Amino acid sequence: MTKVLVIYDSRTGNTEKMADAVADGARQVEGASVAVVNVDKAKLDDLLAADAIILGSPTYYGNMSGRMKEFIDKSNAFHGKLTGKVGGAFTSAGGTACGAETTLLTMLQAMLVHGMIVQGRSDDQPYGATAVEAPDEQAIGYCLELGGRVANLAMALAKH
Ligand SMILES: Cc1cc2nc3c(=O)[nH]c(=O)nc-3n(C[C@H](O)[C@H](O)[C@H](O)COP(=O)(O)O)c2cc1C
Repeated sequence: MTKVLVIYDSRTGNTEKMADAVADGARQVEGASVAVVNVDKAKLDDLLAADAIILGSPTYYGNMSGRMKEFIDKSNAFHGKLTGKVGGAFTSAGGTACGAETTLLTMLQAMLVHGMIVQGRSDDQPYGATAVEAPDEQAIGYCLELGGRVANLAMALAKH
């Protein structure tokens, strides 16, 4: 099985809804086992066991939340051990051009510094899935696609 781990932060539930959709998208990939964990309950060891890690945070001042940043900073304990794992990111923001993309990039940057592999997207939403407040049907579609894309890449890499 290819293990996909979705870790999210959410204060008012919007990013949590996205996390569930990202997980559903990954579950549609045959051979993927998927876990969704609130960042408050996430354990560093879960990172080691995962083949793919997808992070989701609300957009806070154009950045990830403090809780997500704290978790990433703690992951320094495993620096060098996450190399080659597949990553992805999603965020809910208050508007369409209010910092969502920079928030995605802060999470992807941390993944790259860990040596992880991030696949972009040549169409809309190249850096990851975004929603304005609660995800609408289109945003849910982006989340499903993100989960599937990350799971498929992790599975393809596992075969090599
Ligand atoms: C402290 C704080 C900072 C925020 N900063 C931004 C921001 O920079 N840009 C934005 O579009 N929305 C911002 N928002 C709005 C949230 O990103 C938005 O309401 C989001 O849907 C909350 O997600 P959640 O329901 O998962 O907590 C901010 C909200 C809070 C509480």
